[in-house]
Amino acid sequence: MMDEWKQFLDDRERRQLLRRLVPSTGRAPALAVRDGREHVDFSSNDYLGLSSHPALIAAAREALDRYGVGAGASRLMSGDLAIHHELEEETAAFKGSAAALVFNSGYQANTGIVPALFGRRDAVFADQLCHASQLDGALLSRGKLLRFRHNDPEHLDRMLGKHRGAFERALVMTESVFSMDGDLAPLAALLAVCRRHDCRFMVDEAHATGVFGPQGRGCVEASDLAGQVDLVMGTFSKGLGGFGAYLAASRTVIDYLVNTARSFIYSTALPPAVIAADLAALRLCRSGETRGEELLRRAAAFREALRGRGWAVGGESQIVPVVVGESARAVALSKSLADRGFLVLPVRPPTVPEGSARLRFSLTAAHTERQVAAVVEALGAP
Ligand SMILES: Cc1ncc(COP(=O)(O)O)c(C=O)c1O
Repeated sequence: MMDEWKQFLDDRERRQLLRRLVPSTGRAPALAVRDGREHVDFSSNDYLGLSSHPALIAAAREALDRYGVGAGASRLMSGDLAIHHELEEETAAFKGSAAALVFNSGYQANTGIVPALFGRRDAVFADQLCHASQLDGALLSRGKLLRFRHNDPEHLDRMLGKHRGAFERALVMTESVFSMDGDLAPLAALLAVCRRHDCRFMVDEAHATGVFGPQGRGCVEASDLAGQVDLVMGTFSKGLGGFGAYLAASRTVIDYLVNTARSFIYSTALPPAVIAADLAALRLCRSGETRGEELLRRAAAFREALRGRGWAVGGESQIVPVVVGESARAVALSKSLADRGFLVLPVRPPTVPEGSARLRFSLTAAHTERQVAAVVEALGAP
């Protein structure tokens, strides 16, 4: 039996350089200690450096003292606390929606929401680069999953023209800031196509929350579409420095999901200290203390510096992919940067399409100008 597993794993390793877990023994914004050595961390989604902000830590400590560590049960049992509702109310106000629901993670949100609302007779039209959790949600719905070309509303329009009639209900899904490419979805154009073909529209704001839009409210708000997109999902775990996820939607949808989303029902509620930290992060954003637009300006300058050296750089956000082609090259470049004290992880198939392996730089408010200049220097030229 053991040998069969060995054979299976060896085959996988031949197909794609197998990833390994490398624990950090210390962490701070823009800093990771690995193999006993400090690295400037360009791989974290802690875009605003909020994960160690004193306001979040103080809020988490207070909640620990008040409620203890675990929530003890799922929300529909006795794990539901007033602080969960407080976070949901403030999230709805932040996102300009009638209501919001907190999920235990972005993965659980996407895999819970879609199958609760769509089924066998329905179809999900997803951007080709949608995150795995969105695709898994569509697969769990047992409806038909169709993929439209990345950021191409006209292709979506044609696909819907051809296929929409075969299904009872249809959902169109996209990310607003794409996690591996760092580019932005044409939300208004996609929404117009949805309306033309009687589809619901779901936007994943995981990488936009905290960074894009006024006070970090996201791309839906930045595109003046607040209240118009049916399902706006996002996370507290990236730009907001905490953990968990939200769905902003109508009261009817939220009440329905409380009773039908399996990832919400059959999982212990998030710990109160996590909820308190998320709430503190949201309040920092709403007070205007966080500076998403400044981070985006710095990311644009970083992108230009890399392009100036001849690298193929994509994106329009704080996520800056440098596409190098083959997986082995991305791995080698990442290793060479690690040897010089920079943590920049390679992203390879199947996370990204074959032949588009990349170094994914994720710029954060915690990086100093000197660190950014140093990594450009260390990467050199292609
Ligand atoms: C676009 C997108 N959606 C959802 C998720 C999942 O979020 P979480 O890490 O909170 O499970 C991620 C992050 O991995 C993501 O990039």
